[in-house]
Amino acid sequence: MKKVMSIFGTRPEAIKMAPLVKHIEATEDLKSVVVVTAQHREMLDQVLDLFQITPDYDLNLMKANQTLTDITVGALRGLERIIIKEAPDLVLVHGDTTTTFAASLGAFYQQTPVGHVEAGLRSGNRYSPFPEEINRRLTGSLASLHFAPTKAARENLLRENVMPETIFTTGNTVIDALLKTVQDDYIFAEQSLQELLERDCPKVLVTAHRRENQGQPMVRIFSAVRALHDDLPTCEFIFPIHKNPRVRALAQEALGACARVHMIEPLDYEPFANAVNKVDLILTDSGGLQEEAPSLGKPVLVLRENTERPEAVEAGTVLLVGSDQQKIYDTAKELLTNQKAYEKMRRAVNPYGDGKACERIIKAIKFYLYNTEERPADWQ
Ligand code: UD1
Ligand code: UDP
Repeated sequence: MKKVMSIFGTRPEAIKMAPLVKHIEATEDLKSVVVVTAQHREMLDQVLDLFQITPDYDLNLMKANQTLTDITVGALRGLERIIIKEAPDLVLVHGDTTTTFAASLGAFYQQTPVGHVEAGLRSGNRYSPFPEEINRRLTGSLASLHFAPTKAARENLLRENVMPETIFTTGNTVIDALLKTVQDDYIFAEQSLQELLERDCPKVLVTAHRRENQGQPMVRIFSAVRALHDDLPTCEFIFPIHKNPRVRALAQEALGACARVHMIEPLDYEPFANAVNKVDLILTDSGGLQEEAPSLGKPVLVLRENTERPEAVEAGTVLLVGSDQQKIYDTAKELLTNQKAYEKMRRAVNPYGDGKACERIIKAIKFYLYNTEERPADWQ
């Protein structure tokens, strides 16, 4: 039986790989091995618990104030013996984190083929998102199989002379996870969150964590949130804060005194995705949220200067506002106070997937490893 080793380390990788790991486990002629670097600890464990995934190996890498070098070196060193010992037929990595890049390089050093899930996204700017744009490009160079979520991602890869027969357009597995998780009648275990989300008032969800926003951009972003809080007295803000202490310090300083900015611990994926379904507007610099929110018909203001996910911007449900304090304030205020403007932006679109990405990826893996299955048809 062919062995597929999935390697991941952070919350978003785990959320997007979990449904795929479950599919591999349920596929008779594939053996699943799961390795986590634990580049994240608590935020990774939340996802592993939810999807009931017990890793076969855990490098337990995370430490406070870790540098990119710490993660790269730790992952590369830790993965070497595991890849040699397990000798997988294929290593699967996801997206653009430093775990993703280090795992791809580690597999390449053992001449083990790499399948890159969520391949081909490009912002075109090597320093934004940093270091993710380059992590994703390097992973693309190391990979033998490219699972591009969308047609645009496939086209990016083709432009870089990636061989077309190695690219499979599959949809994004985040939509597989989302569709299994969100229910309109979901009841939040946390009573205070349930009450907050039931309140008949405008509700805004905020998340921020990107490295390039840490520092002055985040100061401007949080100042805009504070101004919105002060000027919109009926509006509630829900802000599950990333565990990064740098983000926490900036958020606490700017928003600690705002009574209706609810700064809470990172939510488990299930309540978080269901909270997205209940709020009116999302302010975020997250990659995953740019994919999830449009599918639930929620307008998103992206706190970044560019995006490697242009599809929902083109569909009109996502707007890039960067870290310009005035622009964030004006755009959010307009959407929260002008019903017409809001309705214009609010529409459910699914440019990122149809919930069947994992099925297609499994087919592609079997096509590659056994050459028995037919090549799966591209999504889109
Ligand atoms: C990482 C990824 C980024 C991804 C993000 C998702 C890289 C370079 N960055 O960024 O692409 O978008 O994850 O959230 O791969 N921490 C905890 N507990 C946790 C997680 C983090 O305490 O469960 C704290 C630690 O102090 C850690 C710090 O957050 O040192 C930063 O974590 P790190 O993974 O280096 O960067 P992220 O900003 O989380
Ligand atoms: N998410 C979560 N709990 C939270 C905030 C986000 O489960 O409190 C989920 C969210 O639904 C999305 C993913 O985490 O699937 C995004 O992760 P993050 O923003 O940390 O990273 P990015 O997507 O920017 O790489």
